Amino acid sequence: MSYELAAETADFIRSKYAKSPKTAIVLGSGLGAFAEELENAIRIPYPEIPNFATSTVEGHAGQLVLGEIDGTPVAVQQGRFHFYEGYEMDQVTFPMRTFGLMGIENVILTNAAGSLSTEMAPGSLMLISDHLNCMGVNPLRGSNDKRFGPRFPDMTSAYDAELQTIVVTAADEIAKERFESGVDKSNTDFLHRGVYCGLSGPTYETPAEVRMYRLLGADAVGMSTVPEAIIARHQGMRVVGISCITNFAAGMTDESINHAEVMETGARVAEVFKELLRRVIRELH
Ligand code: HPA
Repeated sequence: MSYELAAETADFIRSKYAKSPKTAIVLGSGLGAFAEELENAIRIPYPEIPNFATSTVEGHAGQLVLGEIDGTPVAVQQGRFHFYEGYEMDQVTFPMRTFGLMGIENVILTNAAGSLSTEMAPGSLMLISDHLNCMGVNPLRGSNDKRFGPRFPDMTSAYDAELQTIVVTAADEIAKERFESGVDKSNTDFLHRGVYCGLSGPTYETPAEVRMYRLLGADAVGMSTVPEAIIARHQGMRVVGISCITNFAAGMTDESINHAEVMETGARVAEVFKELLRRVIRELH
């Protein structure tokens, strides 16, 4: 997707929203409710945005929401384009390309993911420390436009250390408050930290695949995030990723996995998730 198209889209969004957000948030499956928290918001359905594809999967409203959290302007992608839906990587990552040209500096990527660790139960959150790209393709394959970034981007610190610290601090505060007010029975951290493995989907994994990804160093599996993280880093944006653990991955329990369960768990953690995002944004600005 060309620089000119992304620039056109960035201009379009700027023409609809006068403020200049520095932070963008991508909301994963079941986590869209955060977009309702924005004040003075404008909502632009994806089909109305020039050069955007349209999102189809259940649970993805598919709109860009621009508004404020405690007075700070943010850009929120409520729903994303997935590779498994048949979109090309250029389409999957086009919103991220646009964010870069809009002057976004920090990107918060969220997703629903399956846990590969018995310690990390559904309903908890995982801060992404690093990723494995097991999608079978890299979104930067093809000719490189230097105006976006370098041919061979460094991925040593793909997930920003300072942003991770902000998330951990906010999560610790929430855990402490919830324990003290009696909402939570234990003071154990609900935020884990681990490696996210991005897969193409749309099948969930087989138990043998789950054992393989665990051997490879993954802590959670999902079907998004990796392409966006790569594109954001290419354009020099700082990235932080938070997975909502919606299920134990295939074969870890006797249960089978279904999309409804994934969405339900997302809804269950919505409150604490919204609070976490709000505090992270407050700390960032
Ligand atoms: N596997 C892949 N993607 C997912 C899962 C899973 O178990 N849960 C939510 N997204």
